[in-house]
Amino acid sequence: MELIKNLVENFKKEFEKAETTNCEVFFAPGRVNLIGEHIDYNGGKVFPCALDFGTYAVLTKREDKQFRMYSENFKDLGIIEFSLDSLVYDKKDDWANYPKGIVKTFLDAGYKIDSGFDVLYYGNIPNGAGLSSSASIEVLTTVILKSLFNLDIDMVEMVKLSQKTENEFIGVNCGIMDQFSIGMGKKDHAILLDCNTLEYSYAPFMLKDASIVIGNSNKRRGLGESKYNERRASCDTALEDLKAAGVEINSLCDMDIELFESVKHHIKSEEAVPRVRHAVTENVRVLKAMEALNAGDIDAFGKLMIESHNSLRDDYEVTGFELDSLVEAALEEEGTIGSRMTGAGFGGCTVSLVKNEAIEDFIAHVGKKYFEKTGLEAAFYIGIPGDGARKLGDF
Ligand code: GLA
Repeated sequence: MELIKNLVENFKKEFEKAETTNCEVFFAPGRVNLIGEHIDYNGGKVFPCALDFGTYAVLTKREDKQFRMYSENFKDLGIIEFSLDSLVYDKKDDWANYPKGIVKTFLDAGYKIDSGFDVLYYGNIPNGAGLSSSASIEVLTTVILKSLFNLDIDMVEMVKLSQKTENEFIGVNCGIMDQFSIGMGKKDHAILLDCNTLEYSYAPFMLKDASIVIGNSNKRRGLGESKYNERRASCDTALEDLKAAGVEINSLCDMDIELFESVKHHIKSEEAVPRVRHAVTENVRVLKAMEALNAGDIDAFGKLMIESHNSLRDDYEVTGFELDSLVEAALEEEGTIGSRMTGAGFGGCTVSLVKNEAIEDFIAHVGKKYFEKTGLEAAFYIGIPGDGARKLGDF
């Protein structure tokens, strides 16, 4: 509440609004993926949850067609301004390209938006850390548009338009997992999402004796986005090779391990074979992880997380020295049930399941070992599954 009060005050100051102005406040979480990495765009199953921290927006609607946007996270950039009539990607608009792209995608999809708004954004998701700060501001903006312009649109459609914005306006060829978990998140639950059909179910994920601990490597993703697109392209090409050879699948994750082994020689690029193996084995791991969870076998769930990391390291090659060091240090702790990189990789965060009584030691020891190895300070957060994007109220 204190946070919202401050944001509303800052909004009024920044945009020179009267003290008595009524502001609307919205929120969208970040997300962490527990298992099922780099398979949302391969028709696989993923198991993410929304978090209880994320991005806030304070705003007032305008009468004209101008948008004025300010971010507490990028104060130096000041207020970024654009009009409803000129919604084009502009490098100098930096972060504001995300909300701008959402407005454009909504207009293109036929939704009626006839004025702009003044908005202050603030996020407490570390950005570039693989906890989906960009998907968070995207989905947040869709919730704003729905509310301000009384749009007849449901959350799954908003999620799809957010992904479309990221793919077409921003140019990152991401899957649907991040936007979906941020839009559809549910307190105390993770979401099992079938990325082929978008069928989903919620699984309670408040463990009795353990917690989700997120470790930020503080290694920024850097060139991650182009490498991300590269990985995706190599999966797409491998799928085409397999289909051309008569393998009857619609996506890589339609294969089980046996089928993959019997058809992998059709994949033309040698480099793509382990990429596909990751996709196939990771999808199998998600299914096993669900079985483990249903049986209350959290240790088995943890082991699958470790296998997932190893596969991302050896077959998909998206971990790197920092993430590997963080996971290795985590696995040396007695209270660690499982640990792996989460999100796109190439830097960013790990996710670990840690016994509650061991969390303090975990943070101290892992942080120390990681620093000794890499010279970087890790940061740790407890991941509490939270609700999806929503309006918080009028203030
Ligand atoms: C990023 C993308 C997601 C997903 C993950 C890897 O977060 O935005 O769509 O592909 O990487 O699992």
